[in-house]
Amino acid sequence: MTDSRTLFQESSDVFPGGVNSPARSFRPYPLFMRSGKGARVTDTDGMDYIDYCLGYGPLILGHANPKVAESISKQARRSILLGTPTELETMLAVKIRDAIPSMEMLRFVNSGTEATMHALRLARGFTGRRKVIKMEGCYHGSHDYVLIKSGSGALTHGVPSSPGIPEEVSETVRIAKYNNMESVKEIFDNEPEGIAALIIEPIMANAGVILPENGFLRELRRITSENGSLLIFDEVVTGFRFHYGAYSSMIGVSPDLTILGKIIGGGTPIGAFGGRRDIMSALSPSGSVYQAGTFSGNPLTMAAGNAALDELSAMDYSALGKLLDRAVSGIREKFSQAGMEVAVNSMVSMFQFFPGVTCVANYEDAMRADSGLYGRIFSGMLKEGIYLASSQFETNFLSFSHSVESIDETVNALEKVIRSAEAEIRS
Ligand SMILES: Cc1ncc(COP(=O)(O)O)c(C=O)c1O
Repeated sequence: MTDSRTLFQESSDVFPGGVNSPARSFRPYPLFMRSGKGARVTDTDGMDYIDYCLGYGPLILGHANPKVAESISKQARRSILLGTPTELETMLAVKIRDAIPSMEMLRFVNSGTEATMHALRLARGFTGRRKVIKMEGCYHGSHDYVLIKSGSGALTHGVPSSPGIPEEVSETVRIAKYNNMESVKEIFDNEPEGIAALIIEPIMANAGVILPENGFLRELRRITSENGSLLIFDEVVTGFRFHYGAYSSMIGVSPDLTILGKIIGGGTPIGAFGGRRDIMSALSPSGSVYQAGTFSGNPLTMAAGNAALDELSAMDYSALGKLLDRAVSGIREKFSQAGMEVAVNSMVSMFQFFPGVTCVANYEDAMRADSGLYGRIFSGMLKEGIYLASSQFETNFLSFSHSVESIDETVNALEKVIRSAEAEIRS
């Protein structure tokens, strides 16, 4: 077996920075995993970790869920790719629509990035307007129209707005502030008839976890409707994460378009965008806004997605909420025992802690957290066999495979790691 350090040297020769996606990179080198089962992953050195990264969110059922794995392998024997419509696609779409009625029609693609890219084109094509609003620190994938003041790996690696994006593109994107209605209003006041859509993560999951203030999303619904703009909720992270459906249904706000990804593919590559029938009908071939993909709705992904949603529909999400409460109070207690400040933000099955601050209600607060200390805690926890989100600006996830024992093991490890971080700070 080859260890991660050696594998990283080899991968650095063929991949920029040694990885195929920057969020996976951390110092001194990322761990190379060999397998995953339930709540645990095993690296190439044979070391086991309780996993809170969970493939960056899709694996809410845990690693290698037997029903999903069986469905994929059965389908692989039947056909891997057909390049025709299949019944599997309609089955998955109907399940999603039953759970999220505002998605009257939808289309499958292969990633969240593709889904937001096509949804924004559709919004522009449908409204005949050029500009879109996005929120500072929200991440919607890595295409030109959304990689501006972005979150996730872009923020972690200090390139929230990437070189290479033509000015003609960035000039069409207006940036507002999450939880700040004034910043949104100002844009609409300046360009009342120019905005095709406002896209937002209803819960920000790519600058840590940041929750919407009371009424904020409802106000966005109002102001977009009043100005003839579309409201797009990017629920790539939040979809099917807190209950069997979208976050929008929990808060009673109906967006015009919803973006999904991650969980609905059961761990295989997927994205979806959907919403009002009149808008979706503008897509080719029923309409003139073009969008296509060789692998969109491919049988393996559809088999995995159908199996994952069947499993999820029978799950009790409140059990996840109880585990989360245990994790959050454990984290707060361990920081408080060490006399250190921390803000912990959470929702049902996702959480993030921000050392060095007491409250994170927006992007600026998140930027004030002690991300250096977070990094030291992350490294310390790895040595204890706990794989947290590797960056302050990512999210920790819980799965139905996590247990009270895994949470307690994590919180006990945190106590040890905080103690040694504290000793380091003092020395
Ligand atoms: C909210 C959100 N939207 C879009 C994306 C992009 O999805 P993908 O990585 O599948 O392209 C992500 C990825 O983490 C995300 O968190």
